[in-house]
Amino acid sequence: MKKNVRVFAPGTVANMGCGFDVMGMTLNGVGDIVSVSVSEGDGLTIENRSSVDLPTELDKNVITPAVRALMNEFGEPRMIEVVVEHKISPGSGIGSSAASSAAAVYALNEALGCPFTPEKLVEFAMEGEKLISGGTPHADNVGPAILGGVVLMRGYEPLDIVRLPVPDNFFCSVVHPDIMVSTKDARAVLPKDITLRLAVKQWGNVAGLVAGLALKDVYLIGRSMVDSVIEPHRKAFIPGFDELRSKVLATGALSVNISGSGPSVFAVSPDMETASKVGEVMSRHFADMGIGSDLYVGTVSNEGARVLNSSLSSR
Ligand code: HSE
Repeated sequence: MKKNVRVFAPGTVANMGCGFDVMGMTLNGVGDIVSVSVSEGDGLTIENRSSVDLPTELDKNVITPAVRALMNEFGEPRMIEVVVEHKISPGSGIGSSAASSAAAVYALNEALGCPFTPEKLVEFAMEGEKLISGGTPHADNVGPAILGGVVLMRGYEPLDIVRLPVPDNFFCSVVHPDIMVSTKDARAVLPKDITLRLAVKQWGNVAGLVAGLALKDVYLIGRSMVDSVIEPHRKAFIPGFDELRSKVLATGALSVNISGSGPSVFAVSPDMETASKVGEVMSRHFADMGIGSDLYVGTVSNEGARVLNSSLSSR
């Protein structure tokens, strides 16, 4: 018998400004669709039916280490056929690789009868992130892609994930300019050490961000979403970033930051009208430089990866 499960896993915004590798949130309505079939046998195939190019070699696809990590722990061989049906553009900054590995392990777990908890699936999916980030597994995209909402990775050894509430008046605008920045390149420019002065500034902001979420205070969230550590090294990847920030703040947004490793940029606003205007300003910024973009304006989704449909067949 062959069990087939088709899953949607959402796009995500990692870091949320100051929370490099430890904070992430889930977007609504944008994500990957992956189907996984499991039958007797031993092996793994990945077929790409999406409109974007993906590595054809199995070992270069983020799904491979994530699936292998799960199967190692499952401990029994199975024939696994993965089909990537729909994909967020790679290198977009809204968790493209994470959405694929999250969807694949979520679907595989369902097809095997749910032997693993969602938190354990995050650990497996992190193996995909390790592949594309140049060796560091991080969960700030795969965590929210699997669990939904806003998540904090309080620690990695062992993984300790905390889901946080989101205020009702939290609206985000995310622009994805039509340029590509690989996570590996965006991590390679980062310093290995930072000064105590910078660390103090950053941990004040991370604490403020978490307090703002817990207290449902969007203004505290906005003034805490300031990244003094990572952004100075990455903003050069995004044409006119400082100018874009000034325009967006002047439009009424509470904060502007790079989404994950970029090049997407996201802003937080206290109402939908402002978030829509901010989105227009962001799109126009890139259009004025001859760069096309995609825009997302909306709320944080509380839903992570989910089954779209499943079936059982005799072959
Ligand atoms: N936290 C990771 C980074 C997210 O900023 O490199 C990658 O999307």
